[in-house]
Amino acid sequence: MNDYRIALVTGATSGIGRAVAVALAGRGLEVHAVARRGDMLAELEKEAGCRPHAVDVSDTKALEAMCDGLEVDVLINAAGMAVGYLKAHEQGDIDDFDVMVDVNVTAYLRLLRLVVPGMVERDRGHIVNLGSMWGLYPVGGATTYATVKGAIHQLSQCLRVDLLGQRVRVTEICPGRVETGFHATALGDAEAARKTFYEGNESLSPEDVTEAILFALETPPHVNISMIEMAPQMQAPSGVTFAKPLR
Ligand SMILES: NC(=O)c1ccc[n+]([C@@H]2O[C@H](COP(=O)([O-])OP(=O)(O)OC[C@H]3O[C@@H](n4cnc5c(N)ncnc54)[C@H](OP(=O)(O)O)[C@@H]3O)[C@@H](O)[C@H]2O)c1
Repeated sequence: MNDYRIALVTGATSGIGRAVAVALAGRGLEVHAVARRGDMLAELEKEAGCRPHAVDVSDTKALEAMCDGLEVDVLINAAGMAVGYLKAHEQGDIDDFDVMVDVNVTAYLRLLRLVVPGMVERDRGHIVNLGSMWGLYPVGGATTYATVKGAIHQLSQCLRVDLLGQRVRVTEICPGRVETGFHATALGDAEAARKTFYEGNESLSPEDVTEAILFALETPPHVNISMIEMAPQMQAPSGVTFAKPLR
């Protein structure tokens, strides 16, 4: 995989982050796996040899300590979540907004600030940001989530410009629905998530998304895959919505 040796993967206890961590470890990279649930990180260590870091990405000091002296070639920013899903914005809980912005946006900024200077100095690196199709198109019932993912789209585009002239590549992955722990967190109920989102619907698997990430990482160094939008065949963004006025 080019000359990448060390990867830092956030969100490594579940879904996409976990699948990517396993795949990178299987390709011989030293994988540093980040998430809060230490028991699940220990399982990942046993299964794939990933080095566990039980860290909350909201904790700047803990991230600084973790990154100190670590020469990261590949940063996979996958830790992410939604709460209060399927509610119109005006029905949302104000307290949810802070955590959504912190985990889904500020944490990406924190880690990039800690990891990118070393990449620039070594003139080698690859950043993969998990965005979403929700960051690219207007959707109802997920306005806060769409807002934070829209920020990741702009962040990825701007980083690409900031890093131009360096061999530090930036890739944004924008999936549609992926069957992971995400929807259980979003609804606060795994069974409701299964019934609402997965039953009778086609979804991507974390492995499908991993394949796309590996493709971007494995292209030759002179190629930058800036963005990959991918969805189940049975899901597509669509156009204009109409409503009848109430009066
Ligand atoms: N699933 C989808 O349909 C979908 C679609 C488009 C984009 N995405 C994006 O893909 C990324 C991965 O999500 P997923 O679908 O794989 O969800 P997931 O299965 O719920 O995994 C989320 C991961 O994020 C970690 N995490 C959450 N809050 C954290 C915090 N404060 N500090 C550290 N780690 C934290 C969780 O670990 P701990 O709980 O152990 O901390 C978990 O490992 C997210 O950015 C998500 O927004 C998902």
